[in-house]
Amino acid sequence: MLEAMPETKLLDLQPATATFYEDVISGLATQPRTLPCKYFYDERGSRLFDQICELDEYYLTRTELDIMRTFAPEMCEQIGTGVMLVEYGSGSSIKSRLLLDHLPDPAAYVPVDISREHLHRSADELSRAYPHIEVLPVCADFTMAFQLPVSKRRATHHAVYFPGSTIGNFQPAAARRMLANIATLCGAGGGLLIGVDLQKDISTLESAYNDADGVTAEFNLNLLGRINRELNGDIDTDQFEHHAAYNSELGRVELSVVSQCDQKVKVGEQSFELAAGESIRTEYSHKYTVDGFAELAAEAGLTLRRHWTDNARRFAVLHLVIAD
Ligand code: AVJ
Repeated sequence: MLEAMPETKLLDLQPATATFYEDVISGLATQPRTLPCKYFYDERGSRLFDQICELDEYYLTRTELDIMRTFAPEMCEQIGTGVMLVEYGSGSSIKSRLLLDHLPDPAAYVPVDISREHLHRSADELSRAYPHIEVLPVCADFTMAFQLPVSKRRATHHAVYFPGSTIGNFQPAAARRMLANIATLCGAGGGLLIGVDLQKDISTLESAYNDADGVTAEFNLNLLGRINRELNGDIDTDQFEHHAAYNSELGRVELSVVSQCDQKVKVGEQSFELAAGESIRTEYSHKYTVDGFAELAAEAGLTLRRHWTDNARRFAVLHLVIAD
């Protein structure tokens, strides 16, 4: 059988080098020990994350989607005509479609993702569904600066769409740098539409990361499993426990995996001694107020123009524009 020709050509800016190994070794060697949360999403991790999004306790995805469904027409009116829409993380095709359905005559749609396969698949699907919109996928790590592709039709301005409250995974200084990069990438007349999870009562927050079915625990511990699979590790994941708690002083949920005994773990040729009760930080999920986020963004040269929330004010989508 003939293989279907891909609809879109992919711009590959991702170096093939295995930085996963380097990041794991340096993260485990430092005190406190850390592992970057961007490595959660291998195939199993992505599947577990999809399951998390279906959980009663995990309100984020559902709430953001409700906001998008209700307000996409208003958001698109704000973004305006002739835009090149650049999406960070191509995982949210339902949300992208809501924007593409309502954007007035966009110049191009540029999904940016680190996962090549995922990017290819979703870019192909979208270019079939929106044949009148040029789709220009870019394989890149959007936490680093990258170049935008050139569209056939010249865009009047650029807008970044950054859904999913992924910005919450960055500590404020890194988030500010990331927002400044976005401001630079978009340039004059540009803007940012971003999903942000809001501060709320601790029990709602902590339940979202400690679900009764233990899916989040599995998702968290899968990072250790991935190290075993891809980096020749020998970690006994049963000897670790998932932990998630809200730090109200710093406004963030903190996830870690906690060693249940004194143990030695190997990753490739390297080994690490862990004491009973010692934790490895795996993720921060920062929660903001709308004003707090606007303040952070202002330091990066972005001005809050409008925002939309759900009735319970659990989650917000903010439209920020380049300050002039
Ligand atoms: C994908 C960054 C939005 O911080 O809530 C879900 C990932 N971690 N459960 C989040 C996550 C644990 C998530 N984001």
